Amino acid sequence: MNLFLQKAGAKQQKTGFVPTMGALHPGHISLVETAKQRGHLVICSIFVNPTQFNDAKDFQNYPITIESDIDQLEKAGCDVLFLPSVSEMYPNGLASKTHYELGYLETVLEGKYRPGHFQGVCQVVHRLLGIIPADFLYLGQKDFQQCMVIKKMIGLQGLKTTIVICPTLREPDGLAMSSRNMRLDEKARTRAVEISSTLNYIKTSLQPGDLSILKSNAIKKLNDAGFKTDYVEIADAETLALKDHWDGKTKLVALCAAFLGDVRLIDNMLL
Ligand code: PAF
Repeated sequence: MNLFLQKAGAKQQKTGFVPTMGALHPGHISLVETAKQRGHLVICSIFVNPTQFNDAKDFQNYPITIESDIDQLEKAGCDVLFLPSVSEMYPNGLASKTHYELGYLETVLEGKYRPGHFQGVCQVVHRLLGIIPADFLYLGQKDFQQCMVIKKMIGLQGLKTTIVICPTLREPDGLAMSSRNMRLDEKARTRAVEISSTLNYIKTSLQPGDLSILKSNAIKKLNDAGFKTDYVEIADAETLALKDHWDGKTKLVALCAAFLGDVRLIDNMLL
């Protein structure tokens, strides 16, 4: 890895890093392409990080499609693929000595419903950035809260990497692209569109004032479509403070997480 980074440094070329857990789809590839278009040396990692799964079944069932991943990365012009083993990433075992002080961000939404998840994300991204101290880190907006958490971790650790957040890519019917979509059967895949429809419903119905009816209507829409909903929330897009009332000015984001069978999907939309 050092050799690649040194070569880029010698040419004064910036480095762009795309961390992934594999099962790549066009959303991931768009991150590689954006980094490429900016002239960066592009490094992608594929590592299904055990420490960020609060649900053992989710970890066991996480899709692995390495040959197709490599093929897509080659076609997109990715320069370096980092494919570490668990022992390479965690030579001293999975338990982390570092606790990341994420504060409020870890108490809401994904932080609340997936205890320990963001500590695991910080642990792996911190370690990855130790191995690949890239100038830019490319992340997808689909993981809205994760982007905020990683930004916070980078600040806490005083790292030099700048985050670039790229838009969520969607299927023609609106479903946000996600590796977990591969696990939906035909019936579930048809129903899954209701997540983005619900976010669109919030966006088009938003009015200044009380938000509680809008939120409960949105939850009902998902539950009626066969989801088991963890949350539908509207939050300040800068701080993620949850909102029950809108002043008509604050920039908001609607976020949701819901299960279809045993597949948990998340999505968000800036309002
Ligand atoms: O978003 C993901 O795929 C993962 O959380 C990440 C950032 C690669 C860390 O394992």
